[in-house]
Amino acid sequence: MVFRIARRNRSRCDDCGYCTTAISCPGEEVCTGCGACVAACPSQAKELVLTEEVRPEVELTVDGQPVKVPERLTLLQALEQQGYTVGIFPGEGHLTAPCRTGGCWACAVRVDGELKPACITPVKDGMVVDTNPASLASREPRRLVFGFSGHLVGGVGTPWEAKAGRGGWVEVACFAAGCILRCPTCQNWETTFRSRGEPLTPELAAVFLTRARQGYEVERMAISGGESTLNRRWLVEFLSHLKEFNPDPAARLHVDTNSVYLTPDYLDELLTAGLTDIGCDLKALELSTFQRITGIREEGFAARLLARAWEAVEYLLTELWGRVFVGIGLPYNAALISPEELAAIGARLAALQPEVQVTVLDYRPEFRRQDLVRPGTAEMLGVKRLLERAGLKKVICQTYRGHVGPG
Ligand code: FES
Repeated sequence: MVFRIARRNRSRCDDCGYCTTAISCPGEEVCTGCGACVAACPSQAKELVLTEEVRPEVELTVDGQPVKVPERLTLLQALEQQGYTVGIFPGEGHLTAPCRTGGCWACAVRVDGELKPACITPVKDGMVVDTNPASLASREPRRLVFGFSGHLVGGVGTPWEAKAGRGGWVEVACFAAGCILRCPTCQNWETTFRSRGEPLTPELAAVFLTRARQGYEVERMAISGGESTLNRRWLVEFLSHLKEFNPDPAARLHVDTNSVYLTPDYLDELLTAGLTDIGCDLKALELSTFQRITGIREEGFAARLLARAWEAVEYLLTELWGRVFVGIGLPYNAALISPEELAAIGARLAALQPEVQVTVLDYRPEFRRQDLVRPGTAEMLGVKRLLERAGLKKVICQTYRGHVGPG
C-alpha cells in the first residue's frame, strides 16, 4: 500500500527544534504522515513523500464496530479509510478538521473515553473510538490556548480611543493554536502550529483570562491566534463564560480573526454569547494576492475562503454595525500586495461603512518570508493617505516606530 510520510531535508534544517518540542509527534521513525511538521517548519525542511510499504494491521473499535487498519496512520486517516467523510467547515462531513495540525481540536473524537484530536493522534491496537455527535456533545470541548497576559497595543479590533495615549496595558489576550491558512508571513507561527500542551475547556480558559484582567486592571479581554474561530462550540462557550465571569458593563470581549471561518449565523451566535469587539483581517481583494499571502495553493478553496471573509465583513458592516465594534486589518508590503489593490479594498470598505476603523499592518520578515523588507514609515503613511483618499475616515497605520492614528 502507498502511505504518506514526512521526510527531513537535512540541508535545509537549521535544527531549531520546533518540530520536536512544539509538535506532538510520535517520532520520525514512526511517522503517521499527518503533515503537522510540514506545515510548521519555518525552514521548509520537511516534506511529505509517498512510500510503498507493507504494514502490519491494528484493530480498533470505531462506533461499536471492529475495524482493521494499517499501523502508523492518524485516526483521521483511518476513519477516512473506513468511509467517514471529513470537511473543513462544520456540517460538511462526519468530522470537521480545519487546521490539521493538532491545535484547534475541532476534529476531536473520543478515544478510550478521552477527547483527542483525530488529525494527529496515531492509531493504536485496541483503541475504542467514538465519533457519535451526541456522545461528543456530552463532553466539554477543548483546545490549545496560550498566553493570558497583558498587551500594550491591542489588536485590529481595539478601538483607537482605547489605545491612544494610554501609556499602559490596553487589554489582556490569549492565543489559540491552529489555523486554516498557511501564511508564509505568519506573525505568530510558534503558537499557530503548536500541538503540545494541555488543552483547555472554555470555562478554564475564561477563568485564566478573567484573572489576567484582574491582575492587569484592564477592561478589555481578547482572543487571537492562530485562528480563534475554528472550533465554534469552544469559542461560543468561552465568550459565554467570560461574560458570566465579567458581568460589569465596562468589560469588553474582543475576538481577533482572519474572518474566513465566519458566517452570519456564527457571528449572530458570538454576539449573543457576549462578543463586543471584533478585529477582522482581510488579506486581499484579488485571488492571486490572497493565495500569495495565505499560502493556500488550491485555487477553488482559496476563492471560497476569500469570498467568505468578505461576506463576513459585509455582514458586520451592514447588519451588525452599531451592535459590535468592528476593526479591519489590511496587510501591506509591496512584495505582497499593490497600493492599487489596497486602494480598491479601501473603496469597497468605504462604500459599506466609511467610518469603520481600518489598520494597515506593515508586514515584516517573519516565518518563511525572511526575505521581506519591512516598509518604512513614509511608505506606510503613503498607504494610509491612499486609503483615506478612497473614502475611509478612520485609518491607522502600524509602523516600526508605533501606530499612527486617524487624521
Ligand atoms: S483539525 Fe485537528 S486539531 Fe484542528
